[in-house]
Amino acid sequence: MLRAIIIRSVLPLLLAAGTVAYFGLPYIDRLLTQWFRSDVELRAQLLNSSMQELLPGLVAKNDQAGLRRYVSKITADQRLLGLLLCRADGSTLLKTERVPAAVDCDSAQSIAAGSSSILQTPSGSAQVSVFDQSPPGLAPYRVAIVHDLSFVDRRQNTAHDYLIAFAGISVLILALFLALAAWLLLRRWAKILLRDITGRRFFGDAQSGALSLPILSQVRQVLREMEESQRIEIDYRENWTPLALQQVVREQLHSPQIVVVSNREPYSHEFADSGQIEVQVPASGMVTALEPVMRACSGTWVAHGSGTADRESVDGNDRVRVPPEDPTYTLRRVWLSAAEENGYYYGLANEGLWPLCHLAYVRPAFRGEDWLVYQSVNRKFADVVVRETSTEDAVILIQDYHFALLPGMLRARRPKATIALFWHIPWPNEETFGVCPWKQEMLSHLLMADILGFHTLHHCRNFLSTVDRFVECQIDHEHMTVAVQGHLCHVMADPISIEWPPRWLAQLPEVKVSQKAVRQRFGIGAHVSLGLGVERWDFTKGLLERFLALEMLLEQNPRLRGRICLLQIAAPSRSVLPAYQALQKETLAEVERINSRFALADWNPIVLISKQQNPQQVYELYRAADFCIVNSLHDGMNLVAKEFVAARDDEDGVLILSTFAGASRELVEALLVNPFDVAETAAAIQRAIDMPREQRAQRMQLMRRTVKENNVYRWAGRMLMAAARIRQRQALLEVQEVPSLSRRRERL
Ligand code: F6P
Repeated sequence: MLRAIIIRSVLPLLLAAGTVAYFGLPYIDRLLTQWFRSDVELRAQLLNSSMQELLPGLVAKNDQAGLRRYVSKITADQRLLGLLLCRADGSTLLKTERVPAAVDCDSAQSIAAGSSSILQTPSGSAQVSVFDQSPPGLAPYRVAIVHDLSFVDRRQNTAHDYLIAFAGISVLILALFLALAAWLLLRRWAKILLRDITGRRFFGDAQSGALSLPILSQVRQVLREMEESQRIEIDYRENWTPLALQQVVREQLHSPQIVVVSNREPYSHEFADSGQIEVQVPASGMVTALEPVMRACSGTWVAHGSGTADRESVDGNDRVRVPPEDPTYTLRRVWLSAAEENGYYYGLANEGLWPLCHLAYVRPAFRGEDWLVYQSVNRKFADVVVRETSTEDAVILIQDYHFALLPGMLRARRPKATIALFWHIPWPNEETFGVCPWKQEMLSHLLMADILGFHTLHHCRNFLSTVDRFVECQIDHEHMTVAVQGHLCHVMADPISIEWPPRWLAQLPEVKVSQKAVRQRFGIGAHVSLGLGVERWDFTKGLLERFLALEMLLEQNPRLRGRICLLQIAAPSRSVLPAYQALQKETLAEVERINSRFALADWNPIVLISKQQNPQQVYELYRAADFCIVNSLHDGMNLVAKEFVAARDDEDGVLILSTFAGASRELVEALLVNPFDVAETAAAIQRAIDMPREQRAQRMQLMRRTVKENNVYRWAGRMLMAAARIRQRQALLEVQEVPSLSRRRERL
């Protein structure tokens, strides 16, 4: 450090001193010369005055011998070279020996009386001072007094040497003192700062706080920021928050434009019976998960405007700012005709792909006309997304099986965008997917995404083997990448989740209050074990199997009559489709059958609510239930399972969970069941109601930690960090490619 200080401070100081000396010395020379000259002039005047008494007499007598004696006495002064006496006619009266040859009466004549002039002689410079004498009654004459000035040069040289030596030594000493002082000060700062850094003290307890220099406050500020970002990074691993997600967007992606595309919109505007417009949140796991992410990241969400009052609620560009209570992002609605909705949403998406990907043994229907509409609606969404992206390198996050063609369509028009598609439903094995007549088109378009996300590793593997079988490409199984047509697609398992803590909990009372309210509302006695099912009314959810399990339990254990009740919320969904209509009919019939078989005067085993509940109501139900049953026949993730766990801050309640739901990979402390095995499900219900409080708490604690740590901010954060890495790699490749391109051009 000392060497650095010397190099950085002492050398410039020496340089500065040298520059000053170089320009300052001639000035000092001039000053000294002037001083010495005036001094010599004064001496000449004095000498001239002192000669006034005797010299005129000797001159008048022309007494050469007397003059020489007299003059030799007064020129004893070393610096006085001699005297020259000239008559008025210019002839020489007297010239002493040491007067230089160049000085004669002619040259003395050219000097004005009373002044002096410098002459250069071979032995150095000499000053000639001239005085006119006109003694009364005598002939006038001129006296030239010649002084040796070589001593001035000598003195000047000596003065130079002293001055340079003095300045040099002073600068050196000053610089050394400065360096030493700087070194000591910096050492002290460094020590204190190091102590603060190692002790992680940057706030009120910082020792460096006592040093009030501006530089230290800047250092402390940087340290504080580092500490803050480090803290958030630590949070990433344990506790993902909206703030952490925002930081990923800002620091790793450099705040790009973010566009989300989904079929289902996060908010719909509906006309109520009163004619008023109401805002509704649809029953969709995808919306539940993605909405808090968009609140945190902002941007634009492009979705089908399906609400009855949606058109009345947008601006001239079909946009509306949401969430309604505190808008943070833009919802851009896309309008679909009834024919488009039929072909793309009900037809290909929900009668074709949905049953194809869910092993619920409902036969998929593939109709050519649906495929045509599916393509044109994907194109329509692509047009809107392109219009909504004002930058070339936006991050586009596509959701679900409704948009299998969108990555390819967007890649062609926005080559620099980072495109991710998340497939929220399971991906079946290659044989199953192979029955889709348009598998090649779908796969090749999907592979134009930079990232393809699935909930589980199992679904990723199914996808890769499907691609392997039907697409000409290179697959790297270790890194889960697919290279096709010069594009690299990254396949990743990223289990979706919910926000933590769920915002709906904030307005809910404590669990006991919710329990009482719910039981009162649905007429369920305090002694009855309350089981809960919350679903869209879908054939993948295993509703009928659940009822059969309850029936079996009541058969096997008649003492449970009047002591167990299943509260089933079935939100009507896709009701125009025959498969869903059949399911609704069958469900109602089964509830009717089982209830009439076991009912008591004030008790039914199943309470079916066939109406969507808002999120707040659903969370109240979660808190009221003794157990929650999620026995989907097949499910990508199933967020009801995670919501139930998140709702139970009392660490009570039992979760029964299907092994065919993605959530079962994470919530291993649930009672896991094969939903096709009715007896196993019945036994799980029995275990749930018999489970001691302590075990319920232990299981719930573990599951709560899992959901908390793996919340939806982590899901989004992992995908966005993957997007950031891909962008960095692409930028690196571009940099590497440019020189090699130019080299190639040079060779050409
Ligand atoms: O589970 C797949 C999914 O698309 C979810 O993302 C969503 O929760 C659900 O289906 C909703 O379906 P829809 O939008 O057809 O009502």
